[in-house]
Amino acid sequence: MKEKINKYINDVNNIVISNLEEANSFKNQYLGKKGILNQVFFEFKQLPGLEKKELGQLLNQLKTLAFSKLEGVKNNQKSSKHKALIDVTLPSNYEKIGATHPLSKVKENIVDIFKKVGFSVAQEREIEDDWHNFSALNMPQNHPARDMQDTFFIDLNPDKLLRTHTSSVQIRHMDIHKPPIRIISPGRVYRKEDISARAHCIFHQIEGLYIDQNVSFSDLKAMINYFLKSLFGKDLKTRFRPSFFPFTEPSAEVDIYWGLESESDYRITKGTGWLEIMGCGMIDPNVLKNVNIDSEKFSGFAFGLGIERIAMLLYQIDDLRLFFENDIRFLKQFQKAF
Ligand code: PHE
Repeated sequence: MKEKINKYINDVNNIVISNLEEANSFKNQYLGKKGILNQVFFEFKQLPGLEKKELGQLLNQLKTLAFSKLEGVKNNQKSSKHKALIDVTLPSNYEKIGATHPLSKVKENIVDIFKKVGFSVAQEREIEDDWHNFSALNMPQNHPARDMQDTFFIDLNPDKLLRTHTSSVQIRHMDIHKPPIRIISPGRVYRKEDISARAHCIFHQIEGLYIDQNVSFSDLKAMINYFLKSLFGKDLKTRFRPSFFPFTEPSAEVDIYWGLESESDYRITKGTGWLEIMGCGMIDPNVLKNVNIDSEKFSGFAFGLGIERIAMLLYQIDDLRLFFENDIRFLKQFQKAF
C-alpha cells in the first residue's frame, strides 16, 4: 500500500497539464468519484489501526498534492487570461463619442484645400487693439468703413476690442514675417449685431494672405477659383464683382452660381441664382507700408469668408443660431455626415 501511494505521488508530480482537457481528465482520474484518491481511501479504511497511522500522512500528502496541482492549473489559466486583457499590443476598443461640429468640419475642409497649395495656418488673438483691427488696415480713426463693422469695445485706454474680422491676423503676421507669405487663418470674430436667423454677434471667418514678387489679380482669381471649385465641385460658375474694402485695392466680391431649381434657391439667391460668398482684393500699398514691406518690390492678395455661410449652404441650414445652441438633436445629424 505504501509503495502504491508513493508511486501515485510520484506520478502526480510528473504529470504535465497544459490545457483544460488535460486538467479535466486529471481531475477525473485522481479526484473523481471512482478516482484513484477515493479508491486508495477505501482501501485505507480497511487497514488495521497501526498501519493507518503510518499511511495516513502519506495519503494526505497525495491528496493535497493532487488538489494543488489542479489549483495551479486554474491559476495559470486565470493569469494568462488576465495577461490577454492587458496586452498593450492589441488594438483598443475605440469608443466613438460625439461628432465633429459642422463649423469645425467646414473649417478643416477649407484649410485642407489651401494646405495643398502651400498655405499654412496662422492664428492670432481675439482681443485686439485698434491698430491691428482697423488703423493698420487702412482704416484710420473716423474712417467711415469702421461703421460697417459694429465693434465691441472692451477698454479705451489702452484700447482693447474684440476683433471684428480675421484681417487683423494679416497685420500681426506681416509684422514678424517677411515675404513670401502664404497663410490661412481661421478664427472667431465678433460684431455688435442683433441675433437672428441670418446674423450673430459671434461668427467665424477664414482669412487668406498671399504676398510675393509679381503677384497679380489673375493669381488671385486663379486661387479663388481653385478653392471654390474644390469646395463646391469643378463645374461651379463664379463671378467677380468690383467692391470696396479699405485694405485692398482693387477689391472684389465673389459670387457663385447656385441655381434656381427649388423654392429655397429663389429665396437664398433673391431670385438671381447667384450667391455672394467672399470678399477679396490686392493688398493696398498703404497696408504693406504699415508693416514695413516694400510695396515696390512685393505685392499680394487677401481674401476673407464666413464659415457659417458656407456651412449653411453645404448642409442646407437656414438658421445660423443652430450652430451656437449646441442642441444635441441638431448636432447628432452630423454624426454620419462625416
Ligand atoms: N475682412 C473683410 C470682412 O470682414 C473680408 C475681407 C478679407 C475682404 C480680406 C478682403 C480681403 O468683411
